[in-house]
Amino acid sequence: MNIAIQKGDLTKAPKGYTRIQFTDTSKGTRTFVREKDIETLEIGVGKQDELNRRQCIVLCRAVVNAAKANKRKKIALDLASLATAKKLKPYPREELFQLAAENFEMANFEFTVFKTRPKEGWTAVDEILLCGASSASLAKAVMKGQEIGRAVNACRSLANMPGGDMTPTLLARAAKDAVRGLPVKVMILGKKEMQKIGMGALLGVAKGSTEAPTFTILDYKGGKGDPIVLAGKGVTFDSGGLNLKPSSGIYEMHMDMSGAAAVIHTVALAARLKLKKRVIGLIPSVENMPGNNAYRPGDILKSLSGKTIEVLNTDAEGRLILADALTYAKRFKPSVVIDVATLTGAALSALGLHASALLTRDDALATRVSESGEASGDYVWRLPLWDEYEDMVKGTFADIANISNGPGGRYGGTIEGGMFLWQFAKELDCPWAHLDIAPRMTTAPGDELAKGAAGAPVRLLTHFIEQWKS
Ligand code: BES
Ligand code: MN
Ligand code: ZN
Repeated sequence: MNIAIQKGDLTKAPKGYTRIQFTDTSKGTRTFVREKDIETLEIGVGKQDELNRRQCIVLCRAVVNAAKANKRKKIALDLASLATAKKLKPYPREELFQLAAENFEMANFEFTVFKTRPKEGWTAVDEILLCGASSASLAKAVMKGQEIGRAVNACRSLANMPGGDMTPTLLARAAKDAVRGLPVKVMILGKKEMQKIGMGALLGVAKGSTEAPTFTILDYKGGKGDPIVLAGKGVTFDSGGLNLKPSSGIYEMHMDMSGAAAVIHTVALAARLKLKKRVIGLIPSVENMPGNNAYRPGDILKSLSGKTIEVLNTDAEGRLILADALTYAKRFKPSVVIDVATLTGAALSALGLHASALLTRDDALATRVSESGEASGDYVWRLPLWDEYEDMVKGTFADIANISNGPGGRYGGTIEGGMFLWQFAKELDCPWAHLDIAPRMTTAPGDELAKGAAGAPVRLLTHFIEQWKS
């Protein structure tokens, strides 16, 4: 998609462009008006002057979807006048133009890798002309927005890949491909290397599958300070293991590497945007299967940290592979560590479909991450990690248990997952946050985005990296 800007208003849009006109009529209304050879598509936005940032994001996507639904390839709209709405005025225009470009790209995306191309090609918008304002800084903002949108889409594409086509070995290769041509160093640890250093938690989960586990390290040295370390859960398929999931729960579990996909494409994007920070991505990857060599409920694993873990449920596997990744992070002397994982179904019960769960013991970091969520559109909501919850993960025969077996064990599953990770993160000498992105693994109705992976939280992490001072 090409996005251009011009100073002239909408009436100066060249022939062949469908002009998008925002009207105060009820939200979502879409009407075509034709006058001679000028075509206008009216889109109702409710009270235009009351439009807020969140609604603006969805509106930008709705514009692209309206054009797509009517097979219009060239559209023109006046973003500058939209930006005069009361709640949008405080933001610099550049910020809104970037936001719009991100969301145009996101709405234009569909996962077509496994579909036969129709004779007339895929429906997509080719040209967007933004009228009413033009400057070098606005053009730059649009370019940046498009770059971000493309990274989100690349993340969605990767996360959408079926389990059979995206094994741990292939995920490591995808990480390498994502940063090809960029100044990012890639290192991939295989089973042997992991055995040598003692990643017993990750290796335990990997045992049930014939697919070999991988641990990928991406290192972007864009700056000199202590690095930001991001760790992404890369379970390429989560059957649950011997605690096999029921049919309803196993659906979509090829997307259990969404955290990994987000980390991979965030590091790639940081390099592409030439952010002046050092960013390291860690991708522990396994397939969780109930093979004849699978780890069992009751097994005790020795993690890389030296702490032992009692496996009470083989379906709580994400926290096990992340435990070893968090310990591995220590060697980089990070200034901050954030892990990203589709960790618990309970996060969906707690928050529904519109926010990821944020868990951290560091209030300042919570504020930073929440602000990045709000600004970027990858919304998060914090849950507590108080000492009171720590008993949930006390082991009976090992140091730590991977799920709670005490009273109240059925409750607070997302906090339980966070508390488990905290047992390893507490050994880091820096702030740490955990993002449970299970609620944002797939797009939700009303998002105005194609079905499948949502690409969270690439936008949040990118915003976070930009403002973090190490
Ligand atoms: N990958 C799942 C969590 C999940 C569920 C993500 C639905 C996205 C949508 C995770 O590995 C898992 O199985 N969690 C268990 C934890 C339980 C065994 C304590 C869960 O949520 O049921
Ligand atoms: Mn699981
Ligand atoms: Zn899982």
